Amino acid sequence: MSDPRVMVTGGAGFIGSHLVDRLLELGYVVDVIDDLSSGSLLNLSSARQNYQGRIFIHQLDVRSPSLIELTRRRRPSTIFHLAARTDVTASISNPSDDLSVNVAGSIRVLEAALAGEATKVIYATSAAIYGDPSQELIPLDENTQLKPISPYGASKRAAIDYLEIFRSVYDLEYTALVFANVYGPRQGFRGEAGVVSTFTERLLAGRPCQVFGDGTSTRDYVYVTDVVDAMIRAIDSAGGLLVNVGTSVETQINALFEMIARATGSTLGPRMMPRRLGEIQRNALSIERAKAQLGWKPIIDVRDGISMLVDWYNSRPVEFVSRRLRERQGYSSLSK
Ligand SMILES: NC(=O)c1ccc[n+]([C@@H]2O[C@H](COP(=O)([O-])OP(=O)(O)OC[C@H]3O[C@@H](n4cnc5c(N)ncnc54)[C@H](O)[C@@H]3O)[C@@H](O)[C@H]2O)c1
Repeated sequence: MSDPRVMVTGGAGFIGSHLVDRLLELGYVVDVIDDLSSGSLLNLSSARQNYQGRIFIHQLDVRSPSLIELTRRRRPSTIFHLAARTDVTASISNPSDDLSVNVAGSIRVLEAALAGEATKVIYATSAAIYGDPSQELIPLDENTQLKPISPYGASKRAAIDYLEIFRSVYDLEYTALVFANVYGPRQGFRGEAGVVSTFTERLLAGRPCQVFGDGTSTRDYVYVTDVVDAMIRAIDSAGGLLVNVGTSVETQINALFEMIARATGSTLGPRMMPRRLGEIQRNALSIERAKAQLGWKPIIDVRDGISMLVDWYNSRPVEFVSRRLRERQGYSSLSK
């Protein structure tokens, strides 16, 4: 019997590249679809080196009609769909671009899945689909009303409607995983939840960090390898469901800053800035459904995750952090 074959859209990105690494370790043959708009082949360099002949990288926009022919030829059993515009602020300034990639691109992936006779699509969606619900509902479960407050959140929600429609009309199975704030090595700075890598890079370079508001805002930070574990478990379970992937733990931005300062050995204090309009004050996701449906729970707490991330930065060449900082324009604290 030939080795199982899967496809990962957005596989050269932060989360996608970790997923690709794990799938290869598990013996899958992996087709990566990525237009490299925010991802990088550098994220896949060890995968390419260690698994020659088992990873195939296709530099392609998911909106392209040729995705259909490609999927028909490659015949993946499962498609992990992570390719997306992930910048909330950019979605506000350019909502039609966000719509085009995140909604039309997702529909193309579903059409391709049908053409290639894939049995399942596992979709990466975001806590942004819940918007800013009443704080008594925290940690938010999957019955929370979907009421996004940004074009990004709206596009991630709309794609779920199409997953549901393709399931009922064409019998194409799906699981939509709702990620909290994912962090870990290789994270870019434009997308969601870049605050952990932003603080880490700046403190390692001896630069100050801005904290907006009084620092009591909370988020649910989940380490990338735990997220990958949930995605793998979804291959055979949780069909037709929305499933939260977080920790249920709220971490205040002040506490996050202190943990990163301690792990990096920095004595710099945060620069307190006025609260930003439209920023959510608190957030965390309930993971009861993930426990029941995927048999999953996170195993890395935020303190250990930060220490692993700092170790990763420290194992890079010295210029790495300064190059990343040059690439950033300004600096931010909380994601939306
Ligand atoms: N990082 C988080 O905290 C977080 C939270 C919630 C949801 N998500 C979701 O997880 C997924 C992965 O996010 P990430 O943080 O790894 O971001 P990322 O930007 O690192 O990865 C996205 C990848 O998609 C690729 N891509 C973008 N547009 C494309 C297109 N039109 N065609 C082909 N490839 C395209 C990019 O080049 C990149 O490699 C996204 O769908 C995002 O919405 C991420």
